[in-house]
Amino acid sequence: MAPTIVFDVYGTLINTRSVERALGSLVGPKSRVVSELWRQKQLEYSFRRGLMREYRDFSVCTRDALLFACESNGVQLSTLEQEQAMHAYTELEAFDDVKGGLADLLSSKLRLFAFSNGSRTDIDALLRHAMLRESFIDVLSVEEVRSFKPDPLVYEYLVNQCEVPAGDIWLVSSNPFDVIGAANYGLRTVWLRRDPTTIFDPWGVEPDLVVLGLDYIASKIQAAVCNAGER
Ligand code: 2OP
Repeated sequence: MAPTIVFDVYGTLINTRSVERALGSLVGPKSRVVSELWRQKQLEYSFRRGLMREYRDFSVCTRDALLFACESNGVQLSTLEQEQAMHAYTELEAFDDVKGGLADLLSSKLRLFAFSNGSRTDIDALLRHAMLRESFIDVLSVEEVRSFKPDPLVYEYLVNQCEVPAGDIWLVSSNPFDVIGAANYGLRTVWLRRDPTTIFDPWGVEPDLVVLGLDYIASKIQAAVCNAGER
């Protein structure tokens, strides 16, 4: 079977910071700090819910985090404004290099999946909005397991869905916790270092590949796949 590449979605394919523009009209000059805290808390809430075994749809983590980020910054949103901010999250933009990078991978005959904390319905709609959905064989969501990354159960689910051994799956993510979670389960990993100032967690687990963008990722993954096969 052709090598399988799995893409994380938020922060990897889709730019969560692109919500800042829509937030500008709702929260004014605080849009940057609010959007950064929003994302940080959204992830924290997913980690905590996973640990507590108190699963809710990822959109609940997103909404609760929005309320926290606004209140922390002294911003009051009306119910309508909250809905507008949540709606903006369903129309986030893709990073500029995504379309070309995915096209290269597809022409290299690699099997592509999307895999996210977001629900299947939400991720399907988000990728359609960004005109990326057709690149993927399927959209896989942690919702089937009712937990969140980096719970090993969600990577087990991913491996079962891809129907190949863990060591034949490459997970591409900009989120170090996702890369470490996937590597911990035995997947091969690519850390997409979207922000060159970001530091990888010093846990003694290294990604198989580090790339700064999705340009040329196809040739790098192909070379790494061949090297892995020779070992
Ligand atoms: C995702 O699962 C981790 O938020 C990231 O799409």
